[in-house]
Amino acid sequence: MNNNQAIINFLTIRRSVTAKIMAPGSVDRKHLQKILEVGLRVPDHGALKPWRLVVIAGDARKRFDETIILTAFQKDNATITEEVKGIESSRMQRADVVIAVISKPIQHKNIQQWEMHLSAGAVCTTLLYAAQSYGYAAQWLTEWYAYNNKVLRALGGVPGEDRIAGFIFIGEKIKNPVERTRPNPELIVSYF
Ligand SMILES: Cc1cc2nc3c(=O)[nH]c(=O)nc-3n(C[C@H](O)[C@H](O)[C@H](O)COP(=O)(O)O)c2cc1C
Repeated sequence: MNNNQAIINFLTIRRSVTAKIMAPGSVDRKHLQKILEVGLRVPDHGALKPWRLVVIAGDARKRFDETIILTAFQKDNATITEEVKGIESSRMQRADVVIAVISKPIQHKNIQQWEMHLSAGAVCTTLLYAAQSYGYAAQWLTEWYAYNNKVLRALGGVPGEDRIAGFIFIGEKIKNPVERTRPNPELIVSYF
C-alpha cells in the first residue's frame, strides 16, 4: 500500500489562518503556479471543468477593492462611515494573493448542476490545502461580496447562472491560530 502518512499528518493538524490575522507577505509565484495547478485537479463528473479562477494579486488587489468592492458596497449603502469605507476598500489587500473561484455550471443531459457546484467547492478546498501545505496563511471566504452580482460580473461570471464559490486568501502566517471546535465523528457518522 502506498503510505502517505505525511498527508494524513497534515490533514490532522492543518488550520485556516483568518484574513483578519494574516499579513500579505509574499507568495512565491512558483508556489502560486503549483497551487493553481493542483487546485484544479479535483473530482469533476464528466470532466466538464465547470469552474473559472481569477487571480487577484499585486496592484490588482487595490484596483479590485476600490473599483469593484467599494463601488458595489456604496451602491447599496448610500452613506458609509470612514471606518467602513476603510474596510470595504481594502478587503483583497489583506492577502498577497486572492483566488476567486467561480462555479460555472453547464447544461448537461445526465449530470446535475448541483454536482458542478460541489466540484467548485472541491477546487476551493484543494487550493486552500495546497496553500496551507506550503506553510502560507490561507482562508476560504465569501463575505458579502461573493453574493453581489456586480462583483460576479467583474469576475467574468453571469448572474443567474454562475456563482462565486469563494475567495481563497493566501498570505503570510504571522500568528498561529488557536484551534477551533472540531466535530466529534461519533456524533456525525453512523454505519448503515
Ligand atoms: C463556503 C465557505 C465560506 C466561508 N466564508 C466565510 C466568511 O465569509 N467569513 C468567515 O469568517 N469565515 C468563512 N468561512 C469559514 C472559514 O474559511 C474556515 O472554514 C474557518 O476559519 C475554519 O477553517 P479550517 O478548518 O480550515 O481551520 C467560510 C467557509 C466556507 C466553506
